[in-house]
Amino acid sequence: MTTMLVTLFVSAVVTTLAILVSTSQTGYGIFAPPKIAGSRDVFPSAKVVNLTGASGPESIAFDPSGEGPYVGVSDGRVLKWRGESLGWTDFAYTSANREMCVRPFAPELEHVCGRPLGLRFDKKSGDLYIADAYFGLLVAGPAGGLAKPLVTEAEGQTFRFTNDLDIDEQDDVIYFTDTSAIFQRRQFLAAVLNVDKTGRFIKYDRSSKKATVLLQGLAFANGVALSKDRSFVLVVETTTCKILRLWLSGPNAGTQDVFAELPGFPDNIRRNSKGEFWVALHSKKGLFAKLSLTQTWFKDLVLRLPISPPRLHSLFTGGRPHATAVKLSESGEVLEVLEDKEGKRLRFISEVEEKDGKLWIGSVLMPFLGVYDL
Ligand SMILES: *[C@@H]1O[C@H](CO)[C@@H](O)[C@H](O)[C@H]1NC(C)=O
Repeated sequence: MTTMLVTLFVSAVVTTLAILVSTSQTGYGIFAPPKIAGSRDVFPSAKVVNLTGASGPESIAFDPSGEGPYVGVSDGRVLKWRGESLGWTDFAYTSANREMCVRPFAPELEHVCGRPLGLRFDKKSGDLYIADAYFGLLVAGPAGGLAKPLVTEAEGQTFRFTNDLDIDEQDDVIYFTDTSAIFQRRQFLAAVLNVDKTGRFIKYDRSSKKATVLLQGLAFANGVALSKDRSFVLVVETTTCKILRLWLSGPNAGTQDVFAELPGFPDNIRRNSKGEFWVALHSKKGLFAKLSLTQTWFKDLVLRLPISPPRLHSLFTGGRPHATAVKLSESGEVLEVLEDKEGKRLRFISEVEEKDGKLWIGSVLMPFLGVYDL
């Protein structure tokens, strides 16, 4: 009897899911992205800077003289924006082997072409540090070109999914994340659904060239940002929707706590000149994501259903593309939430970089940057 009830229940769930999956593109009803109180739906008025023949500008950086932005794109290049008249030019790359790297979006070639995710300039030297998902931590000189690898393993374990970094120029160290020891970038959704907890947060000492693991067991270690006074460093844990704070100095040095909990899946985090932080959410956390992450039976069911990866991504992100950016104070309070609730212009954003009264907005999936005037 119980078995029959379970079977009935499971078939009902499967049928419901199948219907939800096959119907409208405009949102999946109860699975739709949740509302955030006080958020402002202002991103539909953002401008866009198209990437010609490229896609997925995950991270954004300006060089020490304020030129750029520079972005890392899906085909493995780092591009530089030189304004309306000159457009985009190639700046750097992480793989010397680029004959096959001609399509804007080809995840199956990422391990050959490279996938530059996190970008940061060293302000003194003008060198560009790159966290490449497949090739570890690299550095390109101020003139760009082929980046050279700095480190590809820590404490005997090779990086599998290097993701983001920040530089402490005074201490001469680089903080960076290796998202998972098991899943690679193109398997990011599987890493989240399986609640993979093999992510690491690592410190690279530039003079000794030694990499030390500071935190391990992280559930999708992602964006990294040092505080303005360098007393702590933030590490995004995407799957748990949390930002962790590791104290570097003061009475709590060496300990960690939760800096912020967010209403969605955070990607990169960037500090503005006031010392506040902008966090880009890949998507808000709706019912489908909640059920998948808390109910094992639901996740197992979902992974067994004949759903294509793009469909699964769509369900997980609420069926309706959207964009959400959260500004946090230096102590982790939410100061502002800016959105494109219906994805009219921006979708699946990965980073928000504030510069001179503008927000430059990246995305792992879109073929353009967003620019929003504050
Ligand atoms: C960017 O590309 C889109 C789609 O191809 C086009 O409609 C739009 O006009 C372009 N925008 C700019 C600013 O070039």
